[in-house]
Amino acid sequence: MVDQSKITVARLAEMKRAGTPIAMLTAYDAGMAGVFDAAGIDCILVGDSLGNVIQGRDSTVPVTVDHMAYHVECVRRGARRAMLIGDMPFLSYSSESVAIETARTLMQAGAEMVKLEGGSAVVDIVSRLSGLGVPVCGHLGLTPQSVHQLSGYRVQARAPEARARLIEEAGALERAGCAMLVLECIPRGLAAEVAANLGIPVIGIGAGARVDGQVLVSYDALGIGSGRRPRFVRDFLAGSESVDAAVRAFVAAVRERRFPADDESYADPS
Ligand code: KIV
Repeated sequence: MVDQSKITVARLAEMKRAGTPIAMLTAYDAGMAGVFDAAGIDCILVGDSLGNVIQGRDSTVPVTVDHMAYHVECVRRGARRAMLIGDMPFLSYSSESVAIETARTLMQAGAEMVKLEGGSAVVDIVSRLSGLGVPVCGHLGLTPQSVHQLSGYRVQARAPEARARLIEEAGALERAGCAMLVLECIPRGLAAEVAANLGIPVIGIGAGARVDGQVLVSYDALGIGSGRRPRFVRDFLAGSESVDAAVRAFVAAVRERRFPADDESYADPS
């Protein structure tokens, strides 16, 4: 039975304190959002991954604020209980004024939190948005909007300097007012260290089980799509008899820390 009370920023903080892992999936339309919400997903991310899975593009770079606002509006009509997070797309937070305009658009479309990628370059923007009453989720590690600078999608923060930088930037984002942080594709020991050091919930994708919650792109979690499947993806529809059952299986696996297994994450360099 899903606890029907609304997921708020305070409730997410309480889940972190209580050691209750947070289950998050992406959604892009009202129908899927409604199924996820009823199945007990805590946070629905309208990710700019819609560039890949909805628009069929090679990266998230072409996604615009208008695209995001349209899908946030759609998801808003399906989600009730879950916290709705809207991704700020590529270069839509390149200055404080641009970021405020983007956040305004996404929050007025129905988001309850915005997510942006990056570390020290976005600390002042996080501080400004959060000072204006906008809950912000940070995103460190593999930041897909920087794919061209990173020269591809690969595990981040393996080298000692990159590891130290990520720890420092995670702390800076929390101090700037982030309400939550996503860590993507980093070694699991590093992710666990960051989660243990921060007071805000840390949600992993390809970051191991010892964080405060897990997020997957829903298309990956439901086995939709062809091509090489990243190591951290598990198909929850395989062996489930419906999408509802698959999402309930994902929520249960996250809550019980049965997902991800070690072979679905990355070891720290020795
Ligand atoms: O856009 C997205 O779906 C994301 C997740 C991979 C965390 O940012």
